[in-house]
Amino acid sequence: MLIEFPHTSFKSSKKKFVSLLLFVMLLFQLGCSPANRIRVLSFFFDGVTDPSEKVAAVSDSLNSADTTSMAQNLAAEVAVQTHFHPPYRDKQCNTCHDQSSMGKLKILQPDLCYQCHDNFSLQYKVLHGPVGGGQCNMCHSPHMSENPALTIRVGQDLCLYCHESSSILKTVTHQNIGEVNCTTCHNPHGGTDNNLLR
Ligand code: HEC
Ligand code: HEC
Ligand code: HEC
Ligand code: HEC
Ligand code: HEC
Repeated sequence: MLIEFPHTSFKSSKKKFVSLLLFVMLLFQLGCSPANRIRVLSFFFDGVTDPSEKVAAVSDSLNSADTTSMAQNLAAEVAVQTHFHPPYRDKQCNTCHDQSSMGKLKILQPDLCYQCHDNFSLQYKVLHGPVGGGQCNMCHSPHMSENPALTIRVGQDLCLYCHESSSILKTVTHQNIGEVNCTTCHNPHGGTDNNLLR
């Protein structure tokens, strides 16, 4: 496959734009059956917030049968949705990576992050498991993301990636939460006790 588009990659927006153009051409080659479109899109936008929104947006553009405006719409969407972590955007790669050692991290997370951010272990009595364990990148991209707060997933998926949804949703507190974000009630980093409530 000629297009690879992992959201943690550090391609520039310009490269993304070129990829999008290729992608648009690919769509036309595959024909416009909805099934094909969705398959291609879910490959292409793997890891992105809400593929159904993108599918809708692209379908609309396809219906207009105007490749130029379609490419413009998609490019605008990418530009709007990409949030860059400032030290990555400013090419301060060597604040985190040792460029003389195959780009290995200079120090491990979380201390790597606490060079610039407040130390959560000083803010909270109890730390969330992956925060204490320095797995910041299980929730955040250190480079860029389509999502606010540089998260790599959104909504309940961010939490249910590690927590078993069947065991969470069966408790009295959780059984009726529907689609409500876990972070509406929980602090993702820490809290005053094990329940990590806000
Ligand atoms: C804020 C710290 C930080 C900055 C700044 C940063 N990186 Fe990273 N980078 C990381 C972390 C953390 C990882 C994940 C490492 C891991 O999973 O072991 C990573 C992973 C990578 C990887 C491995 C592949 C991947 O995407 O996971 C590459 C390549 C990379 N960074 C290149 C760069 C380049 C080039 C820059 C500058 C333009 C940069 N990084 C800036 C923290 C940073
Ligand atoms: C060289 C300094 C530096 C380092 C190291 C650094 N950051 Fe940041 N980070 C920033 C700056 C500057 C901002 C933007 C201002 C702010 O929100 O504090 C930021 C913002 C963020 C945000 C919020 C983005 C938003 O839109 O709300 C997250 C999340 C984040 N960083 C995570 C991390 C993680 C995880 C690490 C470690 C892998 C890390 N940072 C390491 C400088 C740094
Ligand atoms: C379980 C997922 C998760 C982990 C692990 C995680 N974060 Fe976050 N982080 C979030 C979410 C979600 C937000 C969005 C704000 C919120 O909901 O409070 C956030 C927000 C942030 C922000 C923006 C300012 C703020 O405090 O709200 C920074 C900076 C940040 N995280 C840094 C880190 C660092 C550094 C680590 C590792 C020590 C880390 N995060 C680990 C989920 C996580
Ligand atoms: C990278 C994997 C990972 C992710 C993602 C994750 N967690 Fe956790 N979580 C853990 C681990 C590990 C523990 C500690 C488990 C233990 O001590 O039994 C934990 C513990 C908790 C606890 C405390 C449970 C207890 O009984 O002590 C809560 C509450 C919690 N997580 C909520 C969340 C929420 C809300 C999110 C999403 C914002 C989230 N988690 C995302 C790994 C994760
Ligand atoms: C409406 C608020 C609310 C929402 C939304 C919510 N929780 Fe909770 N959660 C609580 C409260 C309150 C507790 C304290 C213990 C209890 O009452 O069950 C708790 C406890 C927990 C615990 C520790 C006890 C246990 O049941 O294992 C975990 C883990 C947890 N929540 C994870 C999550 C995850 C993951 C999500 C999102 C899928 C989520 N919570 C959404 C309110 C909420």
